[in-house]
Amino acid sequence: KSTPYHDQYRPQAHFSPKKWWTNDPNGMVYYKGTYHLFFQHYPKATVWGPMHWGHATSKDLVHWKEQPIALYPDKLGYIFSGSAVVDKDNTSGLGANGKTPMVAIFTHHDPKGEKAGGSKFQNQSLAYSLDEGQTWVKYKGNPVIKNPGIRDFRDPKVFWYEDGKKWVMSLATKDRITFYSSANLKEWKKESEFGEKLGAHGGVWECPDMFPLKLNGKEYWVLLVSINPGGPNEGSATQYFVGHFDGRTFTPISTKTKWIDFGPDDYAGVTWGNTGKRKIFLGWMSNWRYANQTPTKAWRNAMTIPRELSLELTEGDIFLRSTPVEELDKIVNKTIKVDPANLAKNNNIFAVIKQTPSQYVLKFNTQASNNYSVVLSNAFGEQLTVGYDAKTMRYYVDRTRAGQTKFDKSFAQIAYAPRLTTSMGTNLQLVVDASSIELFADGGLTVLTSQFFPKKPYTRLGIVNHGMEIEHLQIQPLKSIWQ
Ligand code: FRU
Repeated sequence: KSTPYHDQYRPQAHFSPKKWWTNDPNGMVYYKGTYHLFFQHYPKATVWGPMHWGHATSKDLVHWKEQPIALYPDKLGYIFSGSAVVDKDNTSGLGANGKTPMVAIFTHHDPKGEKAGGSKFQNQSLAYSLDEGQTWVKYKGNPVIKNPGIRDFRDPKVFWYEDGKKWVMSLATKDRITFYSSANLKEWKKESEFGEKLGAHGGVWECPDMFPLKLNGKEYWVLLVSINPGGPNEGSATQYFVGHFDGRTFTPISTKTKWIDFGPDDYAGVTWGNTGKRKIFLGWMSNWRYANQTPTKAWRNAMTIPRELSLELTEGDIFLRSTPVEELDKIVNKTIKVDPANLAKNNNIFAVIKQTPSQYVLKFNTQASNNYSVVLSNAFGEQLTVGYDAKTMRYYVDRTRAGQTKFDKSFAQIAYAPRLTTSMGTNLQLVVDASSIELFADGGLTVLTSQFFPKKPYTRLGIVNHGMEIEHLQIQPLKSIWQ
């Protein structure tokens, strides 16, 4: 079928715009039972261009309804990445007639200023909505933070800091994060800078996010920082720091560079605001190395599965764990237990379950002392291999022969991710869609997301276990989120 949302490579369990280009998720906020997702969007082509904020809403994080475009470029420039908050006390004064304003804080990127060779072409601006995100008005006093002369000065992420009764913004400023605070979202004061000498610096820092999470009753702050290039598998990726925040300064407790997802295809991810104790993360499922070249037609690029974040102490350090949100269960068609003994003969789970789903979750446990791999393949010699190498203690996704790769010279790659714990057997969860796989290993301590583009869908799903015990093997075919 080539109806919208059913064209080749179209994710059936992930958000993608009906048509045209997307990159970063923006302005994610939960309000009155609705999850808002705005996204970097160019509604005239399937390549990056003058940025708008597209908009989609969901009641359950799984089914999405695309809404009219929220923000259009204007004389101050393109609408680059940023965040949105619910200003329930009307601190901004942008509310009217008792209506609570939703306020978007974004970067105005002036392409003329960039061409002219100056350094002050990225500034922070506001827009607000008095109808729960349906329509937006740009603030007359824009920009609210003027560029002091830093070429890369963007991607404001704002949250309400209850202890200090103020708004706090993290902003990507070239090779570090700058924190600002404000009482009213309009006037901002610089508080501190973080990271010039810490973390990965193979590229420019972008799209920060900072939020608290508890571990054994104790509060820590997590700072996400996307970097492009310089990721662990080339190109774009998102690192994070765990530490403390006192309202002005972020202090990490460890200097080790950590990655929220080691794969090539999870970038610019941030979390939803206003979700209470839950922290829900969503990334852009591509990489600037080839984001403009992947072989899709009507649209280009999608988001990851929304992921629930939590902290875990292992090997004497604190790490983030990401797992698909439990709402994904809503589209599970059926949980089918598979006896690994049944795979002995022709090693094809699809033959055992007598169906060939194109989107599904596969789960199993092993003892992690041996190699194993999961192989997705078709009759045309295309295959994607996901596995674990016990000797080097690394997970990997090999897409070198997975299908189309020639659109970019670096796409055909084997991406690796370390196993970060030795204190348990591994458990593995794979979320597979028409053109993506997300590997969650060891309860989500190691994550690896990768796109792939087979000429024909995969029709076989096998496990090569090298004598390993595969336990609790199950597959959950997923319903399409697009009816
Ligand atoms: C990250 C990014 C942001 C910027 C946006 C522009 O992918 O480069 O830093 O705001 O994309 O579309």
